[in-house]
Amino acid sequence: MPDVFIGLMSGTSRDGIDAVAVTFSDKSLEILATHSHPYPDNLADALSRLVDSPESTNLDQLGELHAWVGDVFGEAAESIQAKITAPGASVIAIGSHGQTIRHGPDSDHPFSLQIGCGARIAATSGVDTVADFRSADIAAGGQGAPLVPPFHQWLLAAPDKRTAVANIGGIANVTLLDGTHSVTGFDTGPGNSLMDAWIRRYQGKPFDDGGRWAGTAAANAALLQRMLDDPYFARPSPKSTGFEYFNLDWLDRFEPADPAVTQATLLALTATTIADAVSTFGAERLLVCGGGAHNNALMRALADALPGLVVETTETDGVHPDWVEATAFAWLARERIHNRPANSPSVTGASRPVCLGAVYPATR
Ligand SMILES: Nc1ncnc2c1ncn2[C@@H]1O[C@H](COP(=O)(O)OP(=O)(O)O)[C@@H](O)[C@H]1O
Ligand SMILES: [Mg+2]
Repeated sequence: MPDVFIGLMSGTSRDGIDAVAVTFSDKSLEILATHSHPYPDNLADALSRLVDSPESTNLDQLGELHAWVGDVFGEAAESIQAKITAPGASVIAIGSHGQTIRHGPDSDHPFSLQIGCGARIAATSGVDTVADFRSADIAAGGQGAPLVPPFHQWLLAAPDKRTAVANIGGIANVTLLDGTHSVTGFDTGPGNSLMDAWIRRYQGKPFDDGGRWAGTAAANAALLQRMLDDPYFARPSPKSTGFEYFNLDWLDRFEPADPAVTQATLLALTATTIADAVSTFGAERLLVCGGGAHNNALMRALADALPGLVVETTETDGVHPDWVEATAFAWLARERIHNRPANSPSVTGASRPVCLGAVYPATR
């Protein structure tokens, strides 16, 4: 009877909830089912207002959003449970990342705030639910992010190989694996978020399909350099960031360029910052996951910036790039249920390994 763990993830792109049902064995996994669960339009709008202009949302509305997001995550859990057909499969736990609304690991009182009430997910699904994965690492002095590198290490590290993994979501993060024994990593900065915001402003589209708009222009080297002068990029790791920093206000600080040129420059910014991290590490191969893997122009820019290096998606190693992060939260739920520490202090800067996540027992 396979033990199944469900992972639920919605990243900074807020493009909907990714759900996976996974079984794990010693050093491999099998994805039994996948499901994409959209946010209802009125919830997506409310989340955009909350994130883009927090002062427009009052405390009552915030409280309701926490419950509402929890209900929609619970629906995503029910939908994926219905898709599990493996005989005798038994769902042990759900790992829910929730929806980040603010990430403040460098504040005087460090925090990272994800909404999506875990108790409601447990009540809807009837399955023990692990949520609030970032707080324990932050309480141990870490950034609380990125949390995926230990999972990348577990799944993708190869003996005697320097492997880099780039997860290109709204924000991009890299995992740097030196053989199987050492893991480092950090948020490189914007992944897709600025490109998404820019095309939404000029063309009303949610994202630049295939990077086609960016591909109609050449990046402006001077503008790219001014962007790269932002102190975040030179900061040593551990470091993590979010849309509270890299957003349209950040972009509007630069002198305006032609919109297509700006889009091409934003694509170059994502590619350059990832490629810098990968080449500084001396990786022999780069595996890409996250929605950015679908941006052909971005994948080409990465390959161009890393001559001699094999740039592939994680599909080569058995997990489709769309499902890696949700699978990581299924894996993190498994680590939590087994009471195993699952942060990487070498990544987040935490003072010690700690168990991640709060467990909400099933109530149905
Ligand atoms: N066909 C595509 N072409 C270009 N970009 C894409 C494509 N499909 C997805 N993306 C990008 O991927 C993003 C979603 O990636 P995802 O890994 O889900 O990020 P997050 O974890 O922040 O939700 C979209 O917002 C979009 O920018
Ligand atoms: Mg997403």
